[in-house]
Amino acid sequence: MQESSATPTTATGTPDTPPPAADSSAQPSRNGDLAPPTVSVRDLHKIYRSAGHDVHALRGVSLDIRRGSFTAIMGASGSGKSTLLHLLGGLAPPTSGTLLVEGRNLTQMSDGERTIFRRRRIGVIFQQYNLLPTLTARENVAMPMLIDGKPLEQFRNRVDELLTLVHLQHRLDHRPDALSGGEQQRVAIARALMNDPAIVLADEPTGNLDSKQAHEVWRLLQRIARENGRTIVMVTHEAHGAAFADEVIVVKDGQVVGTINAEGLGDAALVATGYQKLAG
Ligand SMILES: Nc1ncnc2c1ncn2[C@@H]1O[C@H](COP(=O)(O)OP(=O)(O)OP(=O)(O)O)[C@@H](O)[C@H]1O
Ligand SMILES: [Mg+2]
Repeated sequence: MQESSATPTTATGTPDTPPPAADSSAQPSRNGDLAPPTVSVRDLHKIYRSAGHDVHALRGVSLDIRRGSFTAIMGASGSGKSTLLHLLGGLAPPTSGTLLVEGRNLTQMSDGERTIFRRRRIGVIFQQYNLLPTLTARENVAMPMLIDGKPLEQFRNRVDELLTLVHLQHRLDHRPDALSGGEQQRVAIARALMNDPAIVLADEPTGNLDSKQAHEVWRLLQRIARENGRTIVMVTHEAHGAAFADEVIVVKDGQVVGTINAEGLGDAALVATGYQKLAG
């Protein structure tokens, strides 16, 4: 792994570093506590084998993600950002490497175990929101529990709390077609929190939003990490969005080339300059 000396970076391990034990890899969190990382990745490779030729999408990625942090991932198109997010979320198995989420090794799980882990411990936010059009905001937020066979009545209070958290307490029974794009994405954020996830993964969550709505989503994700202690990982092309994260991981050609300490300051120029140095 290369790192730029000109840009602030954090130690993210090296490909030949063995995966740390969950409690021996403590590192300071924003508030100074020692906490094991929620996500620990070592020498992760992903090769897509498609007709005729292989695509080596990830080439030895190593990184740690602190509990309760907001992390952005930036990189050019095709650099492997979505692939990395899919692997973190257990959507696909890596070709090799180690991937621990809350100390559990996803690489050693069967497909069925990974599916259950994903449903119970991972929250996902998509660019297209992926809400069910015939369901109300409340019913969409409750979906992860309904899929798990649990009755809605049991979770009504939690659903309403989450919709209040995303400032949609006045839209509880609206269907997606009666909500703006920004409101729909906020329903999707509430839904991603429903199963009390270890990590929330967002792949370009503001790709379909205008600048004002995008800023609302970035600020909301930052607040959910800071005030609710959620661990959030967001892929974005936008320095303005990445600047709300604590740390920006820069990916190039399937490798982590460095990190930028954005510290959630909203300083897009700092992120853009750091990104240019690392990936330009
Ligand atoms: N299912 C697949 N089969 C074969 N190749 C794939 C598959 N998915 C992704 N790739 C290839 O892997 C590489 C990384 O793709 P990935 O989607 O992770 O990039 P990305 O950084 O998310 O790009 P973008 O910013 O355009 O979304 C690309 O070369 C892509 O063509
Ligand atoms: Mg992508």
